[in-house]
Amino acid sequence: MSNNKIAIIGGGNLGASIAEGLIQSGFVQAQQITITKRNLQTIQHLADKGARVSTDNIAAIKDAQYIILAVKPFQIKDVLTEIKPYLQANQHTIISVATGVWMKDIEAILDSSFAIFRAMPNTAIAIQQSMTCICSNASANKQVGFVTDLFNQLGKTILIDEKLMDAASVLGACGTAYALRYIRANIQGGIEIGFSAAQASLIAAQTVKGAADLLLTKYTHAEREIDKVTAPMGCTIAGLNEMEHQGFSSSLIRGLITSFQKIKKDM
Ligand SMILES: NC(=O)c1ccc[n+]([C@@H]2O[C@H](COP(=O)([O-])OP(=O)(O)OC[C@H]3O[C@@H](n4cnc5c(N)ncnc54)[C@H](OP(=O)(O)O)[C@@H]3O)[C@@H](O)[C@H]2O)c1
Repeated sequence: MSNNKIAIIGGGNLGASIAEGLIQSGFVQAQQITITKRNLQTIQHLADKGARVSTDNIAAIKDAQYIILAVKPFQIKDVLTEIKPYLQANQHTIISVATGVWMKDIEAILDSSFAIFRAMPNTAIAIQQSMTCICSNASANKQVGFVTDLFNQLGKTILIDEKLMDAASVLGACGTAYALRYIRANIQGGIEIGFSAAQASLIAAQTVKGAADLLLTKYTHAEREIDKVTAPMGCTIAGLNEMEHQGFSSSLIRGLITSFQKIKKDM
């Protein structure tokens, strides 16, 4: 267990999930986490588990070593400006989860001697099943191990170049929605061929989970696993080929690229 103290600024969906996952994993004790937001009602459950909850960002960061910024992207500048007078490069490491806020934007407010990380998790962080892409600046070498360990408590991690962060938002974070829409379509089809909604939902979700786990545990290629299901002249290949005639893979790839272009245009 680590002795480091962690301040999470912005106890919304993501910030609260990070706190909850870290407490549940035993990575830190609840008292080592301080989580802030302006209206504390929604994070009372974290106080009940022993975390410190506060509206005071400055008090929260003063004795922390790691500061996770989990406010909306447009709020990052104000929060950094507020806490900057109390930050010290030899004490504090900054981890931003804000989409589209670049490390150079943070360095421009603080300076490049601070260890700065960006992390891009997804909503499955609430159940410690996130895929989190992480990058860091040149001052962060010493802290990479701890930050990777921290997010490993909340799912899987990969270290990437910052230039891939927008792509990580699409494949890793938007990807949750794409996968759920795929599952929903399976449920709709499942009901049409005879299952109740509850049965179809269980079968569709567990089947997708199992398919994903085949790749994650056996490290094989998706097409190799598909080959095992597609008997010659069988029903699976007939259905799959019809899906492809209707543009299945192509529509997914085009959707993904549209999300990517939208991030590039807006951020
Ligand atoms: N949700 C995702 O799937 C996801 C994935 C990857 C990255 N992200 C990024 O994560 C960040 C948070 O997203 P979210 O979905 O968790 O948003 P959210 O639910 O709106 O959380 C943001 C929280 O920040 C608090 N806040 C606002 N101003 C504050 C201040 N000055 N000091 C302290 N707390 C403050 C707000 O609470 P009060 O109003 O009570 O202060 C709010 O609960 C965003 O930058 C987003 O881009 C989200």
